[in-house]
Amino acid sequence: MKELGIGVIGMGWMGEAHSNAYNSIQAKFSQINVKPNLIICSEIIEERAKAAKERFGFEKYTTDWKKVVEDPAVDIVDITAPNSLHLEMIKYCIKHKKHINCEKPVGAFPDDTIKAYELVKDYEKETFVGYNYRWSPLVQEAKKLIEEGTLGELRHFRGRFFSCYAADELGFYSWRFEKENGHGALTDIMSHAVDMAINLMGEVKEVQGVMDTFIKERPIAPAGASHYAKGSKDDEMKAVTNDDYVNAIVKFKNGARGYIDSSRAFYGPTSEMTFEVHGSKGSIKWNFEEMNTMHLYTHDENGKNGYKKIYSSPEYSNHGNFNPSDGSGLGYEDLKAIEVSNFLNVIANKDNSKKVNFEDAKNVALVLNAIIESNENKTVVNL
Ligand SMILES: NC(=O)c1ccc[n+]([C@@H]2O[C@H](COP(=O)([O-])OP(=O)(O)OC[C@H]3O[C@@H](n4cnc5c(N)ncnc54)[C@H](O)[C@@H]3O)[C@@H](O)[C@H]2O)c1
Repeated sequence: MKELGIGVIGMGWMGEAHSNAYNSIQAKFSQINVKPNLIICSEIIEERAKAAKERFGFEKYTTDWKKVVEDPAVDIVDITAPNSLHLEMIKYCIKHKKHINCEKPVGAFPDDTIKAYELVKDYEKETFVGYNYRWSPLVQEAKKLIEEGTLGELRHFRGRFFSCYAADELGFYSWRFEKENGHGALTDIMSHAVDMAINLMGEVKEVQGVMDTFIKERPIAPAGASHYAKGSKDDEMKAVTNDDYVNAIVKFKNGARGYIDSSRAFYGPTSEMTFEVHGSKGSIKWNFEEMNTMHLYTHDENGKNGYKKIYSSPEYSNHGNFNPSDGSGLGYEDLKAIEVSNFLNVIANKDNSKKVNFEDAKNVALVLNAIIESNENKTVVNL
């Protein structure tokens, strides 16, 4: 069995999710025959680093992220720190010849993502990116049905990620609202929606985009507060300098039309990462909020037509890694476990069939850059 040493940088939400994912590999993905060993975690908040070491079973912790990369026992570095730190960390990982599992969007700005891709184009180690929504068993099934031609000629994609995490006007200010640290909804969640569009429909050819900010200022947070926490209207306020909302009308290379949008500042949708794909013979709808169901329409000239509701079950990719039961659903962290298993499978077994690396992130970044350009110049941008 191949053993791989893991180092994780940034022990917030994603650092924890990645650590849990590695810890689940041997129990849930024994078929890939890999044993990930949690070697070292890093976090600037020392108490959080120490607690993470204990909770997830790392051998050691540090407040200096470079020590993670320099550690000879570490084969894979997971970058789960804020976006503005990604590029510097990636460069250091390349210098120390580590495999890199970086959270989306890979850098603060789409240009950083493109730069990261250029740096690893000829790199002898592997990269992976956290586009976890791809790994829902029913999304994998949707992709298969599309590729098999079940929907016929693809004509339209409607995808969005409407998240509520910044809908409260008293939600604390954090790096997520600061232009110097990157864009807002564009890189944070539109990156997921665009990745899904490319995953299902293929490359984007033409983009017309709009960006906007609804909540102009937010209360300043105490150190270590989660981005889900809340301040008061008497707190000192700071101006929000990046986007709450973004949309794009697109044309894909295959000729299909599409509409993709994302918001972090509405109430109603909570984590509505969703898509509808329409073709000449049928349609598919999926929504992460109900990720264990999918709606499929296949047109029957002589029959009664309508959408069929399909439940996740072991017949779909990776469901059986978690349970053997029809309709016994998976959750968000299971997608992270599938993601990590796919990465380990690339490294240990050279299985590239489910590889999502910096090239995929670069393809998303090109679309995001086109949205920025279109919003600024009020033009249609060709890729
Ligand atoms: N794939 C997904 O579904 C998903 C979801 C959320 C976030 N993300 C991505 O994951 C990354 C982290 O987001 P998060 O929600 O976990 O943020 P978070 O704020 O919860 O965690 C980031 C952690 O990094 C720590 N940190 C900051 N500077 C550091 C440094 N120099 N060295 C070590 N640690 C440092 C912070 O103290 C914090 O604990 C971002 O790139 C984000 O875009 C992906």
